[in-house]
Amino acid sequence: MRVEEVDLLNSKKPRHIAIIMDGNGRWAVARRLPRALGHQAGVKAVRKIVEYCAKENIEVLTLFAFSSENWRRPKDEVSLLMKLFLTTLQSEINRLDRNNVRVHFIGDRSAFPEKLQQKIVEGENKTRQNNGLNLVIAANYGGHWDIQQAMKSVAESVLSGEMQVSDISEEVIRSRLSIPSLPDPDLFIRTGGEKRISNFLLWQLAYTEFYFTDELWPDFSQTSLKNAIEDFATRQRRFGHTGEQIKKLTH
Ligand code: IPE
Ligand code: IPE
Ligand code: MG
Repeated sequence: MRVEEVDLLNSKKPRHIAIIMDGNGRWAVARRLPRALGHQAGVKAVRKIVEYCAKENIEVLTLFAFSSENWRRPKDEVSLLMKLFLTTLQSEINRLDRNNVRVHFIGDRSAFPEKLQQKIVEGENKTRQNNGLNLVIAANYGGHWDIQQAMKSVAESVLSGEMQVSDISEEVIRSRLSIPSLPDPDLFIRTGGEKRISNFLLWQLAYTEFYFTDELWPDFSQTSLKNAIEDFATRQRRFGHTGEQIKKLTH
């Protein structure tokens, strides 16, 4: 068993939490409010969850903010979401920086309005030196896109003679995917009751523990996250071994 895997077995606290923040629309509809207000309420929940992870010394928090399929939504909702990203980035980046949070964005940012792309780069640059929580925002992200861009990058390396086809190992593929320098998620959470991945991190979730809750994202509180982390602590991760083997390794 790899050294990192033994470390993972002994850890009751997730190093990396990845969340599909789902249910903003339904939260609004249940209150007879426009969906836009659901997304605004969702931003408030993000603030609380980031604060909690920073306080609890979680290393990485990845949030699925906009999928590569979300462009299929009505035009008004898409443009509202773009505006909300921009205003949230503008209003939050200083606070994140003060709290020693390092911000990363994953996904195809080239499809975003120019101004938003600029703010993304500024946010990443401003927080680059921080060594507290790594906050990864997945925006226009898709697991298929991630694998596609990794394959293109590997193919370029082979074409340029930098490597041979026989050099393409799992490590090489991993190194070309998004966030290669951060550990894979230990705990995956999806709010809003759906039980699917919706093209989120595909490669990186290979051995992640899954947690689903019916709670809608705007209602997801620090206590809800604490409950998910406590549930994670009860799981036995096996990485292909038997339960008995794991007991020996962890006692
Ligand atoms: C998640 O909430 C936020 C985004 C996808 C941007 P939804 O907007 O998907 O909420 P529901 O699923 O319609 O309730
Ligand atoms: C996944 O939620 C994407 C985000 C939370 C950003 P969706 O609500 O878009 O997922 P589906 O379409 O119901 O699978
Ligand atoms: Mg949804």
